[in-house]
Amino acid sequence: MKLRIFVTRKLDDSVIAPLREKFDVRMWESESESVPRDILLKEAAEADALWTVLADSVDRELFEIAPKLKVVSNLAVGYNNIDLEVAKERGVIVTNTPGVLTETTADLTFGLLLATARRLMEAENDIRTGNWTSWSPMGYTGMDVGGATLGIIGMGRIGEAVARRAKGFDMRVLYHNRSRKMDAEVEHGFEYVELDTLLKSVDYVVILAPYTPETAGLIGARELGMMKKTAVVINVARGGIVDETALYEALKNGDIWAAGLDVFATEPVPQDNPLLTLPNVTVLPHIGSASIKTRIEMMNLNAQAIMDVLEGREPANRVV
Ligand code: DGY
Repeated sequence: MKLRIFVTRKLDDSVIAPLREKFDVRMWESESESVPRDILLKEAAEADALWTVLADSVDRELFEIAPKLKVVSNLAVGYNNIDLEVAKERGVIVTNTPGVLTETTADLTFGLLLATARRLMEAENDIRTGNWTSWSPMGYTGMDVGGATLGIIGMGRIGEAVARRAKGFDMRVLYHNRSRKMDAEVEHGFEYVELDTLLKSVDYVVILAPYTPETAGLIGARELGMMKKTAVVINVARGGIVDETALYEALKNGDIWAAGLDVFATEPVPQDNPLLTLPNVTVLPHIGSASIKTRIEMMNLNAQAIMDVLEGREPANRVV
């Protein structure tokens, strides 16, 4: 009997093929729609390995009906969709995909920052909808990026990669993180500050922290109220780190200037999310790591980790 792997999204044959040679691979055959919960549970009950995406909730209920489960490999660097405590309790290995997506996600972060600061989407949309009627002296004027001060909340690998890009724009970089990054401070001049100092001082607040009980709701009305009226907030981490209601109020009332969001508390973002009604919000559908090369590399990491665990080897990128 071959060991069973369940893949929760349709993935390209090229990444699945090596697994198919040795294992019984079953796959949810949609690339864009999440596997329904009842099917996920039914498949998990028989699976030795699960290859998951962020939209799959791998919680106690799932672990408890999956007696054979040995590994959950998540197609993301984040793993807030997986209950790690229960995984540990039950001796299930969890792996993720760090490293390979660092530069790609930093590119997207910087792109979103530029697009938000310079109102690129709004301007493009006006051309497409026939609303560019004349060149206007103050039309589409935004905020300067070059020479401004950037504040990074969460100075992990992606944070450092964003900060390095900022140096190319002559930006001063402040950061807040659980631990100091002394090498980066010495090498690049990045400055560690307390969170409140960062919020008060910077032109761009870029959120790149992991989503944990400590960071849930980290940026709320109080924190938004400390920012400059010209501040731009960029969130490429997880929607739940920012209180969306407070963000909406701050943007609507002009307490901050704009926001660029690649992530939302609920994804896909519901059409009635009030943030979508504001012109000073730039939105993207969670595409931080979405380059062809990076997504394939992420998938290869997952495939290798699953193979390693099922063949009795220690996998790379083990979270628990
Ligand atoms: C991650 O890897 O955690 C991203 O948010 C998904 O691409």
